[in-house]
Amino acid sequence: MKQKLIAGNWKMNGGLAANKALLHELQQGLAHALDSKHAQVAMCVPAVYLSQVQQLVMGSGINLGAQDVSMHEHGAYTGETSASMLKDFAVRYVIVGHSERRQNHGETDVQVALKAQRALSAGMTPIVCVGETLSEHESGHTEDVVKRQLAAVIHANGHCISEIVVAYEPVWAIGTGKNATPNQAQEVHAVLRAQLKAATSQAERVHILYGGSMNAANAAELLSQPDIDGGLIGGASLKSADFLCIIAAAAR
Ligand code: 13P
Repeated sequence: MKQKLIAGNWKMNGGLAANKALLHELQQGLAHALDSKHAQVAMCVPAVYLSQVQQLVMGSGINLGAQDVSMHEHGAYTGETSASMLKDFAVRYVIVGHSERRQNHGETDVQVALKAQRALSAGMTPIVCVGETLSEHESGHTEDVVKRQLAAVIHANGHCISEIVVAYEPVWAIGTGKNATPNQAQEVHAVLRAQLKAATSQAERVHILYGGSMNAANAAELLSQPDIDGGLIGGASLKSADFLCIIAAAAR
């Protein structure tokens, strides 16, 4: 059985002192209470803290992640961070196409696919986020939306597609305290798995994470679904006790 992947996404939260304290608590918890070998752990942090967090997690088994990457290689793109820059800080995972970037920065499916390509070419694993809005959910368009979003990434990345991580994050579940039910999430994950299977014989290898109000109380049931291979955790990744509970649920 493949190890589950639990990835935190701090979003625009944190600070030098708070990061240090949180990572210290997490490392203590991982060292004393858990067999972390049974779950992979990553933390996707704001770009300005990559250097700090790289130092703090060294040798701890927590992998470093970023929250975005430029679709351009280098050049006149003020404010952007290239894949090779992330690589300089030993970044292993990079979130692309988070709904907050699609909504607030107008990122398109094609741009998200290019970002995934940049990450792969630099030897990093893109965590490709897909998910429907509340109105798309209520009008019965969930499948169409997530398939369209994933199709763009499959199209641009061809045979490398088994190297990505997919995160199903229903927009209506993010930060709302209202998670998708395990059945609802499993249904969408099965659709995504089938789509990956049509593109690669390695589809079973791909981690498909669930994200959206995953917490210490609901993680075990969500993670017990056959196609839920881990979680992408926002709010609960900022609290060490909660994040450790989710890792423990994944390590079972
Ligand atoms: P929450 O866990 O806070 O709902 O956020 C989910 C998310 O967007 C992770 O990328």
